[in-house]
Amino acid sequence: MATSPLPSSLLTTVLVFSCIIFFIFPAITESQQTGITRHYQFDIQMTNVTRLCETKSIVTVNGQFPGPKIVAREGDRVVVRVVNHASHNITLHWHGVRQLQSAWYDGPAYITQCPIQKGHTYVYNFTIVGQRGTLWWHAHISWLRATVYGPIVILPKLGVPYPFVKPYKEVPIIFGEWWKPDTEAVISQALQTGGGPNVSDAYTINGLPGPLYNCSAKDTFKLKVKPGKTYLLRIINAALNDELFFSIANHSLTIVEVDAVYVKPFSTKTLLITPGQTTNVLLTTQAQYPGANFFMEARPYVSGQATFDNSTVAGILEYENPKSFSSSSFNKNLPLYKPTLPALNDTSFATNFTKKLRSLANVNYPANVPQGVDRQFFFTVGLGANPCPQNETCQGPNGTKFSASVNNVSFILPTTALLQSHFSGKSRGVYRSNFPIMPLMPFNYTGTPPNNTFVTNGTEVLVVPFNTSVELVMQDTSIIGAESHPLHIHGFNFFVIGQGFGNYNPVKDPAGFNLVDPVERNTVGVPAGGWVAIRFLADNPGVWFMHCHLEVHTSWGLRMAWLVLDGNLPNQKLPPPPSDLPKC
Ligand code: C2O
Repeated sequence: MATSPLPSSLLTTVLVFSCIIFFIFPAITESQQTGITRHYQFDIQMTNVTRLCETKSIVTVNGQFPGPKIVAREGDRVVVRVVNHASHNITLHWHGVRQLQSAWYDGPAYITQCPIQKGHTYVYNFTIVGQRGTLWWHAHISWLRATVYGPIVILPKLGVPYPFVKPYKEVPIIFGEWWKPDTEAVISQALQTGGGPNVSDAYTINGLPGPLYNCSAKDTFKLKVKPGKTYLLRIINAALNDELFFSIANHSLTIVEVDAVYVKPFSTKTLLITPGQTTNVLLTTQAQYPGANFFMEARPYVSGQATFDNSTVAGILEYENPKSFSSSSFNKNLPLYKPTLPALNDTSFATNFTKKLRSLANVNYPANVPQGVDRQFFFTVGLGANPCPQNETCQGPNGTKFSASVNNVSFILPTTALLQSHFSGKSRGVYRSNFPIMPLMPFNYTGTPPNNTFVTNGTEVLVVPFNTSVELVMQDTSIIGAESHPLHIHGFNFFVIGQGFGNYNPVKDPAGFNLVDPVERNTVGVPAGGWVAIRFLADNPGVWFMHCHLEVHTSWGLRMAWLVLDGNLPNQKLPPPPSDLPKC
């Protein structure tokens, strides 16, 4: 398991020092308190792992799967020294961390940095500002995040309580996908043939597939609890390609935070979480020892036509028997309850669930929704196709190659990092600043698709001045089938001010926008055959990737980048790159 990030001597020094500071300046206020620095060493290495009765060599951090947990307090600096011992080029991304003025440490390959090559080191260094809750980190190159991921736990500042009952214990629950084949081979072959890639062989909870899969009963996540206590589950969806429903038999979950922002608490039997999202829930255990075990299960929510992994992962919620002193009290003879999950295609559950998410929006945790808008953008998101090259046969729709796009531009990753080209003023031949602010050829987005479904391909960015208040409507298309797309923006949280089905109506729909307590997050599902409207303040200079967090769609080009220019003040500028920034 992860060890303390600080040597104890240093910890003592820090503690003593902070006591002295406190003694001298007892009137120090919360906002003036600065955090400490937490150091982590991440060694990227190949490790043999056995699941579903097969052993394979996977890329890991420090030999751990899932990877180590990062723990910090709001206001702390996190320094992660990444040493790549594997032959795969790699980068790491701190998903959801705002990276205010630290764009060089954001991590998406060829956007903010070149990959870390074998034998090389890069030290990520960022401060966590104004965020608390659960986020996560993952590899951000090709499909390596299949095995390279872990939780980021952000505790409130010292002395600041949660805006909910203090939990007895906190437990990360990370969903993943387990693939028998090498996922790098899966995606590279799919991109070659133009067909849809294979699907995973199992879902996992904290790396474990559980008893519903072949020979996996021993690989089951067990949550051991005491009666009458409240547990905080820090739920993360790290799956490559699947949104997931999650439920625990005979228990309800109180949602208290998403994407490291508190929400108005509400209780539910089942939650929905897209890849990229995080959700903190309170689980209050039954008052008395129930003499039973309870499955916790996750399985996909699927809105598209593509084949998918329709299996179910189960873990066990197990009560400590007050009359048994053995620590492993699990008793197979006890009754076992299973939850009822929504149907795999239950879009109305998805809609109702996401509509319940609201910001706390109180004095301590205000929702700073931009009330005015400087620039409005309208992006279509969805699938499309590329023609099959001559003398080849392709396995995509009607003999073409699968593609995906934003405003019909399928984004091609450059061979050098966009942020470096921008900073050094050498963008020619790397990117163009002409990303369309709306579709060049409007059509009935959710009706009968146009005859020509070919995309254009390019590396185009959308440039916005510092502090632009942005309103963005993302519209799903029905080309090759409508489908929900979890869109993630790097560098910003945004407010989800509206959503609906069919085509967005710019005349009627804004009347229904919520500018009071919309949920604030970094990843939002664009409803299948519908639209979502978001607002954010572009207050962070740099180049920021935006993409569908279904990895297959990202690979097909459902991605783009925002370029936020420097402001006039010194603290509104992108600092120069660190000296150890990897080179391409
Ligand atoms: Cu979670 Cu661009 O990523």
